[in-house]
Amino acid sequence: MKIAIDGPSGAGKSYLAKQIAARLGIIYVDTGALYRTIGLAVKRAEIDPRDVAAVTALLGKIVVELTYVDGAQCVLLSGENVGDKIRTPEMSMYASAVSAIPAVREFLFSTQRSIAEKSSVVMDGRDIGTVILPDAEVKIFLTASNEARANRRYLELKAKGIETTPEKVLEEMIERDKNDSTREVAPAVAAPDAILLDNSLLDEEGTVLRALEIIRENIG
Ligand code: DC
Repeated sequence: MKIAIDGPSGAGKSYLAKQIAARLGIIYVDTGALYRTIGLAVKRAEIDPRDVAAVTALLGKIVVELTYVDGAQCVLLSGENVGDKIRTPEMSMYASAVSAIPAVREFLFSTQRSIAEKSSVVMDGRDIGTVILPDAEVKIFLTASNEARANRRYLELKAKGIETTPEKVLEEMIERDKNDSTREVAPAVAAPDAILLDNSLLDEEGTVLRALEIIRENIG
């Protein structure tokens, strides 16, 4: 079973994918974490994330691996568990910038594809339904209004002790969505056969229940 969840930032894709994985007993893959990890490597190497040649050269010097510890996904950067170091607003912007580079997408392609070949998965990202799992049995494009998404992301960052304002979060979110949906390779758009789920007016559990309904209707 392959389930693809795509959509813009702050729509709650990760939470939804984790819940679906737990309730259906399948593996969860947060693909954004892989792009964030490349962003971290680029930052540490003091490279401009838009410098295609320098970022591409760096890829030859790093190894990015996905592992699971007690059911939770961990990403290893050349053996180091990156943990929460990739969960900052700065890493969101680095991830978005490097994700527009075709060599980065090629570099991460087989890691994502091979895990889906071995197990049943629910994968969240931007190009899962279009590029990584075009053969997924269910594709959900999860979205919500800008305000709802920015507010959720703000509360999430605040809970982690990261200082920011709702206005700044909204501004960065709009910029990131624009980067992600207008890039030339694998833009963040809904697959033609994806089902749109707008959760502006739903809470987390309401979103999970609606998604499970969609899955049941499509897989049985
Ligand atoms: O889902 P996220 O916010 O952790 O993703 C971080 C960035 O990585 C996002 O702005 C665009 C990129 N990304 C991508 O291009 N393709 C994916 N499948 C997942 C993420």
